[in-house]
Amino acid sequence: MAVNVPYVTLNDGNKMPQVGFGLWKVDNDTCADTVYNAIKTGYRLFDGACDYGNEVEAGQGVARAIKDGLVKREDLFIVSKLWQSFHDYDQVEPITKKQLADWGVDYFDLYLIHFPVALKYVAPETRYPPGWFYDGESKIEHSNASLESTWRAFEDIQKKGLAKSIGISNYNGALLLDLFTYAKVKPATLQIEHHPYYVQPYLIKLAEQHGIKVTAYSSFGPQSFIECDMKVAADTPLLFDHPVIKKIAEAHGKTPAQVLLRWSTQRGISVIPKSNSQNRLQQNLDVTSFDLKDNEIQEISDLDKNLKFNVPTNYGIPCYVFA
Ligand SMILES: NC(=O)c1ccc[n+]([C@@H]2O[C@H](COP(=O)([O-])OP(=O)(O)OC[C@H]3O[C@@H](n4cnc5c(N)ncnc54)[C@H](OP(=O)(O)O)[C@@H]3O)[C@@H](O)[C@H]2O)c1
Repeated sequence: MAVNVPYVTLNDGNKMPQVGFGLWKVDNDTCADTVYNAIKTGYRLFDGACDYGNEVEAGQGVARAIKDGLVKREDLFIVSKLWQSFHDYDQVEPITKKQLADWGVDYFDLYLIHFPVALKYVAPETRYPPGWFYDGESKIEHSNASLESTWRAFEDIQKKGLAKSIGISNYNGALLLDLFTYAKVKPATLQIEHHPYYVQPYLIKLAEQHGIKVTAYSSFGPQSFIECDMKVAADTPLLFDHPVIKKIAEAHGKTPAQVLLRWSTQRGISVIPKSNSQNRLQQNLDVTSFDLKDNEIQEISDLDKNLKFNVPTNYGIPCYVFA
């Protein structure tokens, strides 16, 4: 069954598929096949990052799909992210070019600042991806790069055509408001953790007021973080088993996962679910063809606990970016 995924128009005029495929925790040995099969299934957006350590393999899947005539490069929307040890102005362009080479493409459709915190530079020859620790073990070392200087570098790589659109991730309201004081180019998108336990309605409102499209990550809440052995995730009831989500899924003949994704897409938010299973990635794409009732959307939003899982300290990493 072919699924028609709608596109959202970004503030720079570029069009982005509203449903994409997330590449975090897609194993290196299966990544190329997973990307190839996801393209075959109908995915056009891939959400990657230096930190996921699988950009080479994701690019191999893309190259095979293009070679086999499934898609052309221009049919795809490839997203990547700048890791925080490359925030210094002079490091942004070289690392963008390395990431493009890893993917085997000559532009990203969208390039994001992954986290609003600058860490000291680690050369790719020393360790890649570098991770959070300067010494690769336990030491957090910050760099003096301001977010303003990193954004200036983003505006410059966009001018050079290395990224068609530029955006940010994991920014809060204060950082967005600050960015508006210096940005010559407003971010096209804001990627944030967004699920019924972490709704952030005012952050979404602020982004919308400024014409910035929001992409939700970790739409299934604790599920993704259980795989990381995160205690707070293990201690939180799964959204898939929540009576409200189950009741609504049954009423629509859909899975809880599809309801969680539709809760976002119906409010104009994009989603990038990840799955290592062909059956699940197929169902995750079909999340714009049915409508929830207004009161169902509200009931789901009312599950909010203001509970963010993706915080470095939850992984035992002593970086206090979200303190
Ligand atoms: N900007 C950031 O800081 C940031 C942070 C986190 C994530 N992200 C991006 O967002 C993407 C999505 O977030 P995520 O990977 O954290 O989590 P997610 O997509 O919310 O959840 C993935 C988990 O849900 C399972 N799953 C997927 N589809 C399912 C379905 N239909 N039914 C039941 N279980 C299902 C997956 O298992 P199986 O694989 O076994 O199906 C996996 O355990 C990432 O891959 C990444 O691209 C960005």
